[in-house]
Amino acid sequence: MNTTVILGTGIIGVSTAYYLSQAQPPSSIHLVEPSPVLFASASGFAAGFLAKDWFSPSVAAVGALSFEEHSRLAEEFDGREKWGYMKSSGVSYTAGRRDGETKARGDDWLRGGGSRADGLEVSNVSSEGYVPRWLRRSEGDVVESISEEGSTAQINPLRLCQFLSKTCVDRGVQLHHPAKAISVHSDNRNELSSIRILNTDTQTETDVPCTKILIAAGAWSSRVFETLFPNSDMKLPISSLAGHSLVVRSPRWSKEHEGKGCHAVFTAGEDGYSPEIFSRIGGEIYVAGLNDASLALPSLPTESKIEEKSIKILKETAKQLLGEKEDLDDLEVLKTGLCFRPVTHKGTPILVKLPEKSLGSIETRGGDEGGVWLAAGHGPWGISLSLGSGKVMAEMIQGRPPSVNVTELGL
Ligand SMILES: Cc1cc2nc3c(=O)[nH]c(=O)nc-3n(C[C@H](O)[C@H](O)[C@H](O)COP(=O)(O)OP(=O)(O)OC[C@H]3O[C@@H](n4cnc5c(N)ncnc54)[C@H](O)[C@@H]3O)c2cc1C
Ligand SMILES: *[C@@H]1O[C@H](CO)[C@@H](O)[C@H](O)[C@H]1NC(C)=O
Ligand SMILES: *[C@@H]1O[C@H](CO)[C@@H](O)[C@H](O)[C@H]1NC(C)=O
Repeated sequence: MNTTVILGTGIIGVSTAYYLSQAQPPSSIHLVEPSPVLFASASGFAAGFLAKDWFSPSVAAVGALSFEEHSRLAEEFDGREKWGYMKSSGVSYTAGRRDGETKARGDDWLRGGGSRADGLEVSNVSSEGYVPRWLRRSEGDVVESISEEGSTAQINPLRLCQFLSKTCVDRGVQLHHPAKAISVHSDNRNELSSIRILNTDTQTETDVPCTKILIAAGAWSSRVFETLFPNSDMKLPISSLAGHSLVVRSPRWSKEHEGKGCHAVFTAGEDGYSPEIFSRIGGEIYVAGLNDASLALPSLPTESKIEEKSIKILKETAKQLLGEKEDLDDLEVLKTGLCFRPVTHKGTPILVKLPEKSLGSIETRGGDEGGVWLAAGHGPWGISLSLGSGKVMAEMIQGRPPSVNVTELGL
């Protein structure tokens, strides 16, 4: 089997390694990660909300496959215990109106384009079961169900990443960390034959013979491509969208409540701030929705600088919506974060084998023997789409027929 080097160990990289290692000798798979801390990127800081069918048509098949794989893996490896896999209900929350005031409905922005739940059917469900007990209700507010039973779930994405990478390493996948690829080399037919990896701790360089490379470096993917293929005149169409997040503990969400399922609350936003709140197994409530396209991508995820003013806004939201009453602050902050989603103009991920002519002066071995692939740009949905993307990428790289048709997710 041809050696494959995967650049980036976010959830897309480790998912692909997981599926690849089921169908080829694991020692022929290499993972390369420059961040001194693993999963310090979006994959370790995301909320972990999963949906079955909240996607645009070109992503629907991989979305459904992914949701199924999440459920299958959770079943097989005790995902509830290991990574907090749990069914979830999605609701839209609209604050009450004061006299004469017209407020946006909770789902307005969900339907507004580019959002997580764009185009969803909204239905009113009177059953209190849909309303999370940790949400503070106030007069005139409206809580509506926006998910069908069994079509949404919740995980802790950091723990799923840890499970997948540990499984890969236990199987024999080779992890280079902290390390980065600095150049690619070709044989006498000018076909890709090795990649040079620099261990950034020891400053030692190693040439790993390989004919296949997968770029799965999230928001850093276009930088990786530029470094390795400097003669290419193509720029990968992937940019970044920063998002702050906050994890809190509330006395109203603890182990005894978890059995009934998690909740996802989407609220109406102003000035582009549409708070999203998720309860997770382990007594955690995750708050995000504050995004900033102007924050520049740092050179490594560990170099992100959290903006205190953003965290303050998230804390204020948490206090308003989760506090027991107006002036009582009984929430404990467990974690704050800033991470960068990889985004594309189309709003859909790119899962593709890069055309040979786009690589500049280097070629790759023909047939199923070589190539350079890209799996990135999952935007707000990379956790949900992770396992399906990883499965399909593994199939493409190994030259097997893909489980679902992803031709529309090309460049
Ligand atoms: C606040 C927030 C909340 C979110 N909530 C959800 C959610 O609830 N559900 C959902 O489905 N999605 C969610 N997402 C989206 C999700 O987090 C991303 O789509 C997903 O994590 C992207 O995974 P990735 O592996 O492509 O990228 P990343 O997780 O960014 O991983 C890329 C990796 O590449 C590495 N890298 C950088 N440079 C190089 C290099 N030169 N060589 C090799 N590797 C390199 C990075 O260090 C990093 O480890 C959320 C995102 C944010 C920001
Ligand atoms: C849901 O109920 C609220 C309050 O009863 C109502 O204003 C709203 O129009 C309903 N939404 C739908 C989609 O039926
Ligand atoms: C995949 O979908 C594309 C268009 O979306 C279509 O042209 C192609 O024939 C499909 N491939 C297979 C194998 O079904």
